[in-house]
Amino acid sequence: LAIFPDRINSRGLNMNIEGIRAPFFDELKELATKTWQGGPIVGGRFLTTGNANTVLSPQDQGQRVGQIYFADQATVELAVGKAQAAFKGWRNTPVEARAQALEKLADLLEENHTQFISLCTREAGKLLQDGIDEVREAVDFCRYYAVEARRLMADPQKLPGYTGELNLLFAQGRGPFVCISPWNFPLAIFLGQVAAAIATGNTVLAKPAEQTSLIAHLAVTLAHKAGIPADVLQLLPGDGATVGATLTADPRIGGVCFTGSTETAMLINQTLAKRQGAIIPLIAETGGQNAMIVDSTALPEQVVRDVVRAAFQSAGQRCSALRVLYLQEDIAERVLEILQGAMNELSVADPALWSTDVGPVIDQDAKAGLEAHLAKLIAAGKKVIAQARLGKGCDKGFYIKPTALEIGAISELEKEQFGPILHVVRFKAKDIDKVIDDINGTGYGLTLGIHSRNESFAEYVAQGIDAGNAYINRDQIGAMVGVQPFGGQGLSGTGPKAGGPHYLTRFITEKAITNNT
Ligand code: NAD
Ligand code: ALA
Repeated sequence: LAIFPDRINSRGLNMNIEGIRAPFFDELKELATKTWQGGPIVGGRFLTTGNANTVLSPQDQGQRVGQIYFADQATVELAVGKAQAAFKGWRNTPVEARAQALEKLADLLEENHTQFISLCTREAGKLLQDGIDEVREAVDFCRYYAVEARRLMADPQKLPGYTGELNLLFAQGRGPFVCISPWNFPLAIFLGQVAAAIATGNTVLAKPAEQTSLIAHLAVTLAHKAGIPADVLQLLPGDGATVGATLTADPRIGGVCFTGSTETAMLINQTLAKRQGAIIPLIAETGGQNAMIVDSTALPEQVVRDVVRAAFQSAGQRCSALRVLYLQEDIAERVLEILQGAMNELSVADPALWSTDVGPVIDQDAKAGLEAHLAKLIAAGKKVIAQARLGKGCDKGFYIKPTALEIGAISELEKEQFGPILHVVRFKAKDIDKVIDDINGTGYGLTLGIHSRNESFAEYVAQGIDAGNAYINRDQIGAMVGVQPFGGQGLSGTGPKAGGPHYLTRFITEKAITNNT
């Protein structure tokens, strides 16, 4: 019988401890001007054959972070061939060896955390605390999937054999897995997908987001150092429409794990349906139109603390972030008054400063889209409740003012607005069923927040709204691996949930062997 080691979630960095804080900031300072190189890693080699792109910081377009090469078609072809050739060897490698390599990677991530945090801030515009949390989550994914793969795959499951036959059910990898990730969790989601596919005996072709490929490059370099073989994990940075589309259309791949927008997931779904080759799984985790419902029994100060965190932390660039706050009329004025005060205090500034609350959005397209959305609502007569000020230096990058404004209903919003914009709707207690229907009517189902001291109300709303993750009397972001398995329903994703006990099942195929000896 296999013995499964215990696992505890990574603790991150406690900045209250001088012995941790001081060396961290010293190293961060040294890394602040380092220029990084990245690009395709195929067969263990960093290739510099494709287009070279300069990487500039979202917070300061004058700050050069480095240079990234995008894969050309010949590189993609080379990598897919290698992934296919390496597949059977990796599938047949004992799960214990695969799990140990991931655990070693987790250790190396912790040892090198400052490099990743620095890059998360400089390449993705993330707050330092968000960078710390990224490393912590990536570490958790590696360790969690290592343990889960052992549970699922170490021994075949013995099934009944009524006539004396021996019936064994084996779980094994499916083939080269294409892992396509977004820029908003450039390390945690990138490595979470990769770790799940590798733990279960698949080879991986990883396509990171265009905006954050240097972080992915560093992570793959470390994964190889941890003992994951070169042909088992290859990196293919590049445009989604070329590299991503070519990979998902390839008849040799065994599955696709995608996190990003609902629109891209639908495109990939169509590509898979049209391509030649086996019918393969698509695991897609996508966007949301996330609501929080607050009734008159809620505690206003606690509501505002959680609203500010859920709507504005990470500049609202979390799929889990709060987009529409429903306030019961009797409590609305009090909550909005405190919210105005809290938003006045937000520091919108350089994410490399520890005191910053809100950093930039990722790029010019994101900024323009969010500003156009705000302008449209304001032109339509919607009332701005509060707007935070931009701090010093924000003119150098892609900042928008965190804004709360009042709308009539969630159905007025055409799509997810991926940034620090909070929409507020007032409702009457008697209309709660209409509110539930409106939220379900969006078709999305990712996160839900509820603030209420009335347990039966909270339970009624949590059961009534089709959201993958519902949180009562707290904020609705920052799901923890193995604690709050994360993922949505409907337009928000296919499931199974990342960081949960069923996730790995979509990365495997099952084989039953009956032996009539
Ligand atoms: P995106 O869909 O634009 O891009 C995601 C990835 O898909 C990128 O790597 C991109 O290059 C690739 N891609 C684009 N077109 C492609 C194509 N035709 N074929 C194959 N790949 C293609 O999303 P984004 O802007 O990077 O990320 C933000 C979105 O991700 C938001 O909608 C957010 O809600 C969602 N998200 C969801 C979760 C979740 O767990 N549900 C987590 C994080 C982000
Ligand atoms: N897992 C991330 C969160 O919960 C997206 O915020």
